[in-house]
Amino acid sequence: MSTAQGSLRAAAFAKLNLTLHVEGVRDDGYHLLEALTVSVGQPHDTLVLTRDDEPGVRLALSDEPDVVPVPEEGSNLAVRAAQALLDRTGADGGFRIWLRKRIPSGAGLGGGSADAAAVLLAGRALLAAESALEIPTDADLVAMGGELGADVPFCLGGGAAWMRGIGERLDPVALSRPLPVVVAAPTMRLSTPEVFAAWDTLGGPRSERVVPAPPFVSEHLSQLRNDLEPAAEHVEPSVADFRRHLEEVSGLHALMTGSGSAHVVFPPDVREADRLAERLRQELDARVFAGATAGTGVRIAPAGPE
Ligand code: C5P
Repeated sequence: MSTAQGSLRAAAFAKLNLTLHVEGVRDDGYHLLEALTVSVGQPHDTLVLTRDDEPGVRLALSDEPDVVPVPEEGSNLAVRAAQALLDRTGADGGFRIWLRKRIPSGAGLGGGSADAAAVLLAGRALLAAESALEIPTDADLVAMGGELGADVPFCLGGGAAWMRGIGERLDPVALSRPLPVVVAAPTMRLSTPEVFAAWDTLGGPRSERVVPAPPFVSEHLSQLRNDLEPAAEHVEPSVADFRRHLEEVSGLHALMTGSGSAHVVFPPDVREADRLAERLRQELDARVFAGATAGTGVRIAPAGPE
């Protein structure tokens, strides 16, 4: 008899660090951060999560032409999040995940974390429809997310927040309106642990390059910087060339997000963001996304045609 039922679709939004200060290192080697972090509408991944009578978690990937490569199943954060929910609740059966991956990995855009957050939220909603299971609270999900990756707690709520600690302390920030952005992810990918290790090797530098904050973000801070920029450029010197090229073509200041390699620029409005993205696609060897900040990290809808 079939017991495990239901299917939900989730949009999982990328995150950007508008500013990222590295404040120190914990005893376990993790770095203490202070980062103003926002969700963005583009790029986003799409997941369909379906309950299954068969135990375990199975991942199927969209074969559409514009998807990006996905890390293999064992280390995939979406798969690990689904398994964590099954383990935690003791639910029978398993989950099937269909994933359309558009957030480049190794880019500092939190794509794996966004997918994990989407699976935790959609999976909890599916399990809540089944009786006699103890369903994790929001605080439980944040704790489970933190075990999966430092950006998952932010992605569960999304919007705009100061991230502190290693990412687990979140203070929401009210942005007065959506901030237009263009995100450019070059073909070279960076490993987060390698970039943090380079920051250690370089003696913990504070980035000397600062970028003026766009108009209404300046209510919260006047200058933006990313302390991981020198470390990323140490690991992969072409990151600096990419940034200069992006600044030259756009005529705007560019800032790296997270541990790179993606960068963001702030056009004055969404129409200009679209025009600029078109130009950058022609001039740069990069995936380019135009959009604006989003009020949430994950949007869940009934599964079915989009
Ligand atoms: O938690 P996550 O999987 O995103 O982190 C990947 C790696 O990045 C960690 O293993 C750690 O080396 C480094 N990291 C760090 N400090 C953070 C976040 C990540 O040193 N706050």
